[in-house]
Amino acid sequence: MSKLFISCALPYANGPCHLGHLRSTYIPADIYARYNRMIGNDVCMVCATDEHGTPIAVKADNEKIKPIEVAKRYHDMIVRDINSCNISFDNFTRTTDKKHYEIAQNFFLNLYKKGLIYKKDILQLYCDNCGKFLPDRYVEGICPVCGADARGDHCEVCGRHLEPTELKEPTCLTCGHTPVIKDTYQYFFKLSEFEDTLKEYIANNDSLPANVKNYASNWIKEGLNDWVLTRDMDWGIPVPLEEAKGKVIYVWGEAFLGYISSAAQWADKKDVKWEDYWNEKVIHFIGKDIIYHHAIFWPALLSGYGCKLPDTVYAGEFLSLEGQKMSTSKNWVVWIDDFVKEFDANLLRYYLTVNAPLNKDTDFSWDDFQRRVNDGLADVIGNFLHRTFTFTHKFFDGKVPEYANPSSEDLEFEEEIKKLPDTVAAYIEDLEFRDGLLEIFRVAKVGNKYFNDQEPWKAVKEDMQKAANCLYLSNQLTKTLAFCLKPYIPTKVDSIAKILNIDNLDDWNEAKVILEPGYEINKVKPLFKKIEDDIIQKEKDKLQATLSEKEEDTMSELISIDEFGKVDLRIGQIKEAEKIEKSDKLLKLQVDLGEKTVQIVAGLAKDYEVDELIDRKVVVVANLKPAKLFGTKSEGMILATSDNCALLAPDEKGQVGEQIQ
Ligand code: MF3
Ligand code: ZN
Repeated sequence: MSKLFISCALPYANGPCHLGHLRSTYIPADIYARYNRMIGNDVCMVCATDEHGTPIAVKADNEKIKPIEVAKRYHDMIVRDINSCNISFDNFTRTTDKKHYEIAQNFFLNLYKKGLIYKKDILQLYCDNCGKFLPDRYVEGICPVCGADARGDHCEVCGRHLEPTELKEPTCLTCGHTPVIKDTYQYFFKLSEFEDTLKEYIANNDSLPANVKNYASNWIKEGLNDWVLTRDMDWGIPVPLEEAKGKVIYVWGEAFLGYISSAAQWADKKDVKWEDYWNEKVIHFIGKDIIYHHAIFWPALLSGYGCKLPDTVYAGEFLSLEGQKMSTSKNWVVWIDDFVKEFDANLLRYYLTVNAPLNKDTDFSWDDFQRRVNDGLADVIGNFLHRTFTFTHKFFDGKVPEYANPSSEDLEFEEEIKKLPDTVAAYIEDLEFRDGLLEIFRVAKVGNKYFNDQEPWKAVKEDMQKAANCLYLSNQLTKTLAFCLKPYIPTKVDSIAKILNIDNLDDWNEAKVILEPGYEINKVKPLFKKIEDDIIQKEKDKLQATLSEKEEDTMSELISIDEFGKVDLRIGQIKEAEKIEKSDKLLKLQVDLGEKTVQIVAGLAKDYEVDELIDRKVVVVANLKPAKLFGTKSEGMILATSDNCALLAPDEKGQVGEQIQ
């Protein structure tokens, strides 16, 4: 029996779970954990909600509540979602738990005392208007490397970790002002010292999957800078040093410790040691967006501390929805809670496993979901189980018949059944969960074909032993299927076990123990229903509707005077106008705002001639985040009516540059 430490990436407590979370981490980790428990390994599978960090603080600011209230709300939802999908965590805690604070602060101190964390004066973005430093996602701008819109410390397009001061055209997320660069100090982790250790870890660790190795070795080639590990914020774990008042540990500097604090909390209750699990084998399940953190930051922190490095990091690639990138802000997403109200969670576990290997990006589409469930689960597995069970009742009194004088087809089929558990086991051990599932399906298909070929409905009249052999073997396969499918669709197969009169499916070895002739099975119940077209259509409509609802919502939603006050409206005067090539709608305008002249791209070309615009006074949104349209920078917006494109203009008294209130 070996011990095994399994973790899933800590979900941020700023939203409930959606399909993406499940696909990349929870489902694969759960399959692996359940299988390992079944073969008798001692598993500690842990996770927690990641509750610090700027997005949670920003959300709390917006809602005028405390960050902990935001975190608690989503923690509870996440727990609900995880439970509804039967993810069998041994412990699921929170990074705001006392134990986590203690462990994270001790970890920090340990590195500090070794000189691996040091204090350094730096420049940071500071918003004069808000009177605060702008850590990470409090600032938005343009990625200096790839030119995409980026938030704070991370560019989603090129996947790079960024220093906010490197951002081009930064703006304060809270108030929209352009921040200034100001002196302060922070604590840094000597990441650069671990370059060789990490190179070695990445290059020589055969259990790291190829996608992780590739990403990580590419990044490391660019060289490693020391990593700023603290922030000026109220929300977070205080830096455990007298001299560092008001500073907190950067969320990524402590979230990893959630793996350990969750395990430690569990171990305390069980009176065991989490280190025993860690030291034997550690496997982290994560999404590909955080490979950098797990292949570089985390192993470096661990080596600094003097802890064994994770044996493997398993990174699921992205999941899109109906061909488009999922987006929680646009509500282009399927929430778990909505899904499980309509469907059995086992279907989701099955579909997200079968539709692509984890190391490939893949798509969730309702049509494909329906097809896979109907053609796979219902037609292949469901059909095989159903015909076997009903036939056993109809012709053999609900008992497994005698097996004698097997034909060559019988022997071949028997061989397939016997081999199945080992083949599936090997795939799961290699983290090839989809292949394991496909193998189960392949053998179930063999079963269906065998059943057709043997024609037991005829054989009962002509050759009773042939029918008996067919049903004997088919019953054996139903049992093997139940065990092999247990890690994948755990609660669904419990109902197969019920029919088979099996108390539990906890022991993988039992998969190979045969049902003796005479063994009685229970009444048949329908197991896998097909999903009808109208149900799927409803889901597709819902998805489309949420999109348009969102648009309508923003139209009619009431706003406060403060919110309106955020919009800086000014009188501007158009000084220059020219057409933008390749666009029949857009004009490039230079607009005088008194203090400065800005460039604005406006969709006026169809309704106004260039000449009639010059010197016109217009109303301008002056603090709009700059954007690029047709490759041309636009630093504001000119107000006009939506249908007729009538420009709004001030009365004669209005002066250029004057603010509108
Ligand atoms: N909350 C982070 C995310 O969703 C993941 C944290 S994982 C851990 O990207 F390693 F920090 F634990
Ligand atoms: Zn600000």
